[in-house]
Amino acid sequence: MKKYSRITGTGSFLPPRRMSNSDMVDALQARGVETSDEWIVDRTGIRARHFVDDGVFSSDLGVEACKRALESAGRTAKEIDLIIVATSTPDMVFPSTACILQNKLGANGGAAFDVQAVCSGFIYALTIADAMIRTGAAQRALVVGAEVFSRILDFDDRTTCVLFGDGAGAVVLEASSTPGILSSDLHADGKHVDILCVPGHVAGGAILGDPLLKMDGQAVFKLAVGVLEEAALAVLDKAHRTAADIDWMIPHQANIRIIQSTARKLKVPMAKVVVTVDQHGNTSAASIPLALDTAVRSGKVKLGQTLLLEGVGGGFTWGAVLLNL
Ligand code: UT7
Repeated sequence: MKKYSRITGTGSFLPPRRMSNSDMVDALQARGVETSDEWIVDRTGIRARHFVDDGVFSSDLGVEACKRALESAGRTAKEIDLIIVATSTPDMVFPSTACILQNKLGANGGAAFDVQAVCSGFIYALTIADAMIRTGAAQRALVVGAEVFSRILDFDDRTTCVLFGDGAGAVVLEASSTPGILSSDLHADGKHVDILCVPGHVAGGAILGDPLLKMDGQAVFKLAVGVLEEAALAVLDKAHRTAADIDWMIPHQANIRIIQSTARKLKVPMAKVVVTVDQHGNTSAASIPLALDTAVRSGKVKLGQTLLLEGVGGGFTWGAVLLNL
């Protein structure tokens, strides 16, 4: 009997326009905004990020990631009966980016919807897809994180614009008789809405309020370190495992210092931590599936290994998933 769900393929896609720190320094200097490669690397570990060109949307990045995930799973789009897209930068107010992506992919007919949990979005989406597969509501899902954060950055605010990038990652999650997803743990605390938000909204044909990203970096940093440890311990406990059982930790890629601090608290050596923040920046909901696919394709992460995925972001939201690949 197929009572579990398992990842059977991974894929990712980065838009071709790569912006190194020195490209960012030049672009910002032209606007009178001072920053440096040294500050960005010291404080965040970021060396480069990718940005989309005009006219490219989250669904475009997501479609490419999905094609690669389907190919690696040996599946076709027609075999997919559920698509969940985690994004905070949807193509439109509605319909969902998942519906737009479904049509571009030619996977029409199954369920498709978006999940909005900012940088924790992929962890939320994976948990929902796992639950739907285990209850028999779906058999074969594409779980996607896709973002074009460059569209919501304030390039006059050096405290945020150097941190984020664009990209997409996807997994194929299928019903299985052996466990892939072992446990998950999701949380939110809405009293922290203001520390990371894009406060604008659409009304009467205009944008009211500010449609650009605002972040109290230090408040986010402090909260992130605490809750990531809690979520990691919760999924280990639920699955009756310990940190020593983790082959790879694949955290949300926001800041190398947050990643190092969480790994230290859990006593997971950095040699077992997948790091892509240096090359991708923070791609919000896309960061975990992008890091997972990068690690799978480089040969680091292998079939049968135990992975701890964990994310934290606006809302405030956080969560973790423990799985066997
Ligand atoms: O994905 C969701 C989760 N998001 C995160 O996890 C982000 C969490 N927060 C962080 O990663 C860090 O707080 C930041 C990287 C955002 C900031 O690092 P920090 O060590 O907390 O720096 P800070 O905000 O305390 O700023 C230190 C100094 C300030 O100057 P003064 O006031 O000390 O003179 C800033 O104005 O660094 C200055 N600064 C910069 N300098 C050069 C801020 N941004 C820049 C910049 N270039 N881009």
